[in-house]
Amino acid sequence: MELQINGRRHSVATEWREESLLQVLREHLGLVGSKFGCGTGQCGACTVLLDGTAVRSCVLPAARVGTQAVSTVEGLARPDGTLHPLQRVWLERQVPQCGYCQAGQLMCAAGLLRRTPQPTDLQIDEAMSGNLCRCGTQHRIRQALQAVA
Ligand code: FES
Ligand code: FES
Repeated sequence: MELQINGRRHSVATEWREESLLQVLREHLGLVGSKFGCGTGQCGACTVLLDGTAVRSCVLPAARVGTQAVSTVEGLARPDGTLHPLQRVWLERQVPQCGYCQAGQLMCAAGLLRRTPQPTDLQIDEAMSGNLCRCGTQHRIRQALQAVA
């Protein structure tokens, strides 16, 4: 099986086909930016983009990805290291606290801006409401997204 991740093709051994995409990313390919939180699609810590749409990688079997392009937080910055606008604003506004949920937050935000470059407050709230943060950074995430938009 092959997966297209952050613009690169990766070979994945057959025995990983039935594992979740999150498991493959973290345990097989060493892309540990996406986090394991609940493991049941409830918290958003594992959010990645599939062809630009935010999905929960913990409940997505790797075999179902097919030819869709996977984007993880490792691929958010440009190859030359230039940060994505979301990452810049995240840093400027000191959004992260413990940081555990933040890769998922960033990828969910990236998916929102991809389909809606100038989201309303309501659209931001709707898009981000499923990404939980125990540290209470939702308010700063909202402000950061407003700033980028
Ligand atoms: S770890 Fe995937 S949604 Fe919580
Ligand atoms: S920053 Fe700690 S869980 Fe969100």
